[in-house]
Amino acid sequence: MTTEAASQLTELKRKVETREARIGIIGMGYVGLPLALLFSEQRFRVTGFDIAPDKVAKLNAGSSYIVRILPADIAAAQAAGFRATADYSQIAEMDAIIICVPTPLNEHNEPDLSYVVGTVKSIAPWVREGQLIVLESTTYPGTTEEVVVPLLEHGNPHGLKAARTLGQPGLHVVFSPEREDPGNDTVARHDIPKVVGGCGPAATELASALYSAIFRRVVPVSSPSAAEMTKLLENIYRCVNIALVNELKQLCMRMGIDIHEVIDAAKTKPFGFHAFYPGPGLGGHCIPIDPYYLSWKAKQFDFNTRFIELAGEINTDMPYFVLGQVSAALNEVSKPLKGSKVLVLGVAYKRDIDDLRESPSLTIIELLRDKGADVAYNDPYFPTVGHGRHYDLNMTSTPLDNLGQYDAVVIVTDHSTYDYPAIVRESQLVIDTRNATKGIASANILRC
Ligand SMILES: NC(=O)c1ccc[n+]([C@@H]2O[C@H](COP(=O)([O-])OP(=O)(O)OC[C@H]3O[C@@H](n4cnc5c(N)ncnc54)[C@H](O)[C@@H]3O)[C@@H](O)[C@H]2O)c1
Repeated sequence: MTTEAASQLTELKRKVETREARIGIIGMGYVGLPLALLFSEQRFRVTGFDIAPDKVAKLNAGSSYIVRILPADIAAAQAAGFRATADYSQIAEMDAIIICVPTPLNEHNEPDLSYVVGTVKSIAPWVREGQLIVLESTTYPGTTEEVVVPLLEHGNPHGLKAARTLGQPGLHVVFSPEREDPGNDTVARHDIPKVVGGCGPAATELASALYSAIFRRVVPVSSPSAAEMTKLLENIYRCVNIALVNELKQLCMRMGIDIHEVIDAAKTKPFGFHAFYPGPGLGGHCIPIDPYYLSWKAKQFDFNTRFIELAGEINTDMPYFVLGQVSAALNEVSKPLKGSKVLVLGVAYKRDIDDLRESPSLTIIELLRDKGADVAYNDPYFPTVGHGRHYDLNMTSTPLDNLGQYDAVVIVTDHSTYDYPAIVRESQLVIDTRNATKGIASANILRC
C-alpha cells in the first residue's frame, strides 16, 4: 500500500470513529431518508441530496412526507446537522456518498437505470480522491462495475480511477444492497446485517467500517457483483415462494382445503420450511420488479431464468384470479359484475404503509371497472389516487360507512386499522384476499 493511500484509509476510518465523517445520501425516498436518520442518530452529519424541490423544502422545514417518519425524527436529525439540498457541488465536502435512487422497469419490463446514470453523471464532476461511493439501489449483477465505475472515471475532472488493489489511490466504489422492509417492526433496522462488496479491498474495508457504525453486523463479499446478486437472490426467493403458495391456494380452494390452515401447520416444522402467504398479487418497488433485472441480464449469457418467468406469470395473474372470484361470488347471489357496487379496501401494496407502487389493488380496481362494476375504494393512507405507470384512476377514498350499500366489499390490503368483524357484519358480501377475516364465522365471506 502506498503511504499516502494507507494514511487516507486510516484517516477516513478515524473520521468514522469520531463521527467527523460527512455522509451524503442521494435520494431522500423510502430507503434514503430512513438511512439518513440512522446515521444522524449515531451523530453523523448527514446531507440528503434530492432532485425533488418539494422534498428538499419539506425536510429543511422539519416536516416529513413518509407516514412512519415523524417531524420529530427530522428535527432530531437536524439537531445532529442533517440538511437537504439539490446542490451537487456539496458532494465535494462528503467523505462517503450513498446512492439510493429508484431502479424501476421500462414499458418493456427491462431495467431502467436512468436514475442511477443521472445521479452518477451529476456527482462525477464533484468527486475527489479517497471518497467512498456506495450504490444501494437494487440492480442486476454488473451494474456497479459496468455502469457506475466507467461514468465516475470518465466524468471526474481529476482522472481518478476506482481503487482496485490495496494501496492504489482513487475512488472507493462499493455496492451494498438495501434490506429495508417497510412496516416490519419485528427486526430493528440496526439488527439487519449489511452486505458490502467493493471494487477493491480498501473499498470493502471502508464501507464495512462505515456501516458498522449503524449496523450490528456487516457481511463483506468478494465483489460488487456478488453483493448485487445477493439482493436479487433474496427477492427472487420471495417472489418464487409467493408464487408457489398463490398456485397452491388456487388448488386448495378447488379441493376444499384452507391454505392458511395448511401453512400454519407446515410452519410448525422447526427446519427446512419458511412460511410465505398467498395474496391478491405482488406489489411494491422490489418483489414485482427486481427479478426482471436478473432475467434481463441473464439473456446476455444465453440463459433463461425459468423460475423467475413462471413465478412472474403466476403472480401477475393473481389480480385476474381475484376478479374471477368477485364475479363468481356475485353470481352466487344472482348478481352480474356489471353494474354491481364494489368497494375495494386498501390500495397500499401492503398493510399499514403509505406506498402504492405496483399495488395489485390498482389493477383489481381497473379490471373491475373494465367489467362495468361501479367501484369505490377506501384507504386511510391514500385520500386520493391519481395516475401512475400502469394505472389511471383519479379516485377519492370513500368513508367506511353504509357498507350495506355495496354488493361486494373486497379486502385487498389488510390494514390493521380496519375493524374486520364490523366490516363482515355490515357488508352483504366480503371477498377476503388476505385472510384478514380469519376466525370470523359468517356465510357472507369468500376467502380467496
Ligand atoms: N422501498 C423499499 O422498500 C426498498 C427496499 C429495498 C431496496 N429498495 C431499492 O432502493 C432504491 C430506492 O428505492 P426507494 O423506495 O427509496 O425509491 P423512492 O422513489 O422512494 O426514492 C427515490 C428518491 O430518489 C430521488 N431521485 C431520483 N433521481 C435522483 C437524482 N438524480 N438525484 C437525487 N435524487 C434523485 C427521488 O426524487 C426520490 O426522492 C431502489 O433501487 C429500490 O429498488 C427499496
